[in-house]
Formats: sequence, C-alpha cells, structure tokens
Amino acid sequence: MTETATTIVNNLSQAIAQQTAKVGVVGLGYVGLPLLDAYISAGYSAIGYDVDAKKTETLNKGESYIAHIEGSKIQAWLDKDKFEATTVMERLDEADVILICVPTPLSDSRDPDLKYVEMTTEAIAKRLRPGQMVILESTTYPGTTKDVLLPILTKTGLEPGKDFFLAYSPEREDPGNPDFTAGTIPKVVGGLEPHSLKLATEFYEKAITQVIPVDSCEVAEACKILENTYRSVNIAMVNELKVLFQRIGIDVWEVIEAAKTKPFGFQAFYPGPGLGGHCIPIDPFYLSWVARKHGIPTKFIELAGEINTSMPLYVIHKLAEALNQNGKPIKGSKIGVFGVAYKKDVDDPRESPSFKLMELLEERGAELSYVDPHIPKLPKMRHFVVPDLCSEEPTPEYISSLDCVLIATDHTAFKWDEIVKHASLVVDTRNATKDLVNGREKICKA
Ligand SMILES: NC(=O)c1ccc[n+]([C@@H]2O[C@H](COP(=O)([O-])OP(=O)(O)OC[C@H]3O[C@@H](n4cnc5c(N)ncnc54)[C@H](O)[C@@H]3O)[C@@H](O)[C@H]2O)c1
Repeated sequence: MTETATTIVNNLSQAIAQQTAKVGVVGLGYVGLPLLDAYISAGYSAIGYDVDAKKTETLNKGESYIAHIEGSKIQAWLDKDKFEATTVMERLDEADVILICVPTPLSDSRDPDLKYVEMTTEAIAKRLRPGQMVILESTTYPGTTKDVLLPILTKTGLEPGKDFFLAYSPEREDPGNPDFTAGTIPKVVGGLEPHSLKLATEFYEKAITQVIPVDSCEVAEACKILENTYRSVNIAMVNELKVLFQRIGIDVWEVIEAAKTKPFGFQAFYPGPGLGGHCIPIDPFYLSWVARKHGIPTKFIELAGEINTSMPLYVIHKLAEALNQNGKPIKGSKIGVFGVAYKKDVDDPRESPSFKLMELLEERGAELSYVDPHIPKLPKMRHFVVPDLCSEEPTPEYISSLDCVLIATDHTAFKWDEIVKHASLVVDTRNATKDLVNGREKICKA
C-alpha cells in the first residue's frame, strides 16, 4: 500500500475512534432513524439524507413520524447540534461514513428492484472523495455490493480499499420489539477487502454491542436473506399445520406452547392471517431470483410463499363458515377488521395481510370498517385498492353493531375482554383471545 493509502486508512480509523467522523444516513425510514439514534447516542454528529422533503422538514422541526422514535429525542439531537436532515444529495461528501438504508422492494414481476440503491450510489459517486466509507444496509441478494455498488463507485477513478472503502452490513431492526434497539442487536459485517472490513468493524463497534465480522460482503448479504427465509419457511410450516389441526379439532397454538417447552431443537413460530411487513414477504424472493439465474430451484422459498399467500383466503373461508352459523352471508354483513398494521404494536401497514383480507371481504360484498390505534386512516397501497376509511373507536356501541369482529393484528391496546363481551362473533387469527374465560362460544379461531 502506498503511503497516501495508509494515511487515508489511518485518518478514517482515527476519526472513527475519536467520534469526529461524520455519519451520513441515506433513507430516513424504519431502519435509518434508529441507526441515527445509535450513532448520535454514541457521540457522533450525523446528517440524514432523504428524497422525501416532508420527512426531512419534520425531522428538522424536532418531530418524528415513527412511533418508537420520539420527537423529543430528535429535538435533543438538534439542540446539541448533532443532527441535520437534508434532501440535498450534493452534500453527501460531507459524511465520512455513509450508511445506505433505502428501500429494496420487488418489481411487479416479483424481481429485485434495486433502483433506490442504484440512485443512491450514483448520487454518492458524484461526490465521492478519498477517505469516505460506504456501507449498504438495505436487504438484498448476495453479490449486490460487489456487482452493483462497486462498478458505480469505481467509475469515479477512485480505488476501493485505498481511496474509499465499501462494506455490507444487514440491518436486523425489529420495530415494535421493546427488548432491542439498533444499538443492542448484534451486527454482521462484510467488507469488500481487508481495509474496508477493518474500518467497518471499528465503526460498528463504537455504537453496537456486538459486531460479527465475516469473510465477504456476500456472506453478510446471504446471512440476512437466510434469516428471513428461515422465518418465512417456518411460518409457512405452522400455517400449513394450522389448517390441518383445525380440521381435526386441535388448537395449533396450544400445540406450539407445548412444543416450546422442549429446551433444545425447537423454536416457536406462530401462524397468522398471512405474511406482512417490508422483509419476510419480500426478501426470500431476492434469493430465488439469484437462484433462477443459476438454474437452481428454491422449492422451500416458492412453497412457503404459496402457503403464506393462501392464508388470507383461508381466513375468509373460516369467517364465512362462522357467519353462516349465525345465519348470515358475508354480503351485507358489517365486518370490523381489528388491526391493519402488519404486526403487533407498530404503525407500519406495508404488505399487511389486513389489506388482502379487506379486499377479499369487499369483493364478497361485506360492509367494512376497521380499528387500529396506530393507523388513523387507511393509506394508499401499491398492490391494493384501499377503501377510504378512518379508524373507528372500539366503543361497545360500535362493536355490538358489527356482525363480525375480525382480529387481524393483536395490538396490546385492544381490550379483548371488552371486544368479545360486546361482539356477536369474533374471528381470531392471532390467538389474541386465548386468556379469556367468558364468551368463548362466540370465538372462531382462523
Ligand atoms: N423495516 C424493517 O423492519 C427492516 C428491518 C431490516 C431491514 N430492512 C431493510 O432496510 C431497508 C430500508 O427499509 P425501511 O423499512 O427503513 O424503509 P422505509 O421506506 O421506512 O425508509 C426508506 C427511506 O428511504 C428514502 N429513499 C428512497 N429512495 C431514496 C433515495 N434515492 N435517496 C434518499 N432516500 C431515499 C424513502 O423516502 C424513505 O424515507 C430495506 O432494504 C429493508 O428491506 C427493513
């Protein structure tokens, strides 16, 4: 290595150690904001970049748009002069370490859509200067950092491992989980070459409890996809067993509670109305796309996708049967969907199965309403025609006016005993009513 290259590595290493390195986070969403929190709490100054001016303006006013990051926290960052949000990508050269946290969705044909990652990398390349480190945190298929980011960044004429550094570290954020924050979830990191790995490891060690360096960016990329494919496959398995067990009169949730007592060799996964969120329904398909390119079948991924996407229809069949027992068809029945966020206690509706449930109910002529304390108005969704509805107050009058309560998300805020007391029928897809003693005859698990 030349003397200049050694100096560049040493300077960045020192700036990281002394907390003088400026952290840039691109994409100020569910992943970007918690990461900013971890680094600002560790003493760094940070700039947040986003194309959405509403988000940057909100943050610069000391307000938040994500439930588990309070506005007062952002105001404290601003008060201490530790943070600024901007839409001006020309300022990307101000950051010493740039963390890319932009969306990685699927295209309409269910292929990886890397346009946000590519646009961000192009914007970084325009201002790339010696001494910067770029780390991709978005979930993606193995090979993205080397095959997509690297060629864009090297077009600048700067050399990786000498002038700039490149790494991949998957984000494992679990929104709504009070037991973990970005700083306490172990972080896997892979570097493009040894200097990138060394610097990225040093960087994460300053703000994250445990850092796990791995051999390459591809190992780190594959690690994240393995974790999410594992979840998808196991959820599909319990969903399949739910259908079987319900047919033969066994409560699948009771079975899982019993199996969970085995102290080794079993991890509990729970059935539900279908997959939701930005990760589990999407990420495995990033891997199956790579597999297709290599002519390798990924039967587990495809089958899990098939089973999980069939769950909303199964729930609607169960609901139709239960209504029928009460002498009612779906058509014209008043159905209240409880919970439209994709999981408990979050305000994130992305890919939530509740939207599929609402679509299926609407197609069958139900009179729909919903209750979700975290989602006051139904947002527009890419794949669904969403009814123009606001969340109802779950008053006794409202609940008793319904022909059926459909529990789609088990938010802690819901008072299950009150709901069951006033409802004429409850279809429970989450086992939310498991502890209730009264009114069990009105509950149908689905
Ligand atoms: N949400 C989670 O729980 C979670 C967990 C682990 C990993 N991930 C992964 O992290 C990544 C980000 O997910 P998220 O949930 O934070 O998404 P998000 O939609 O909440 O946030 C992404 C942000 O990026 C911004 N953005 C889009 N294009 C941009 C561009 N070209 N330049 C600057 N900003 C841009 C958007 O405006 C948005 O604010 C995805 O790859 C996701 O799979 C998410």
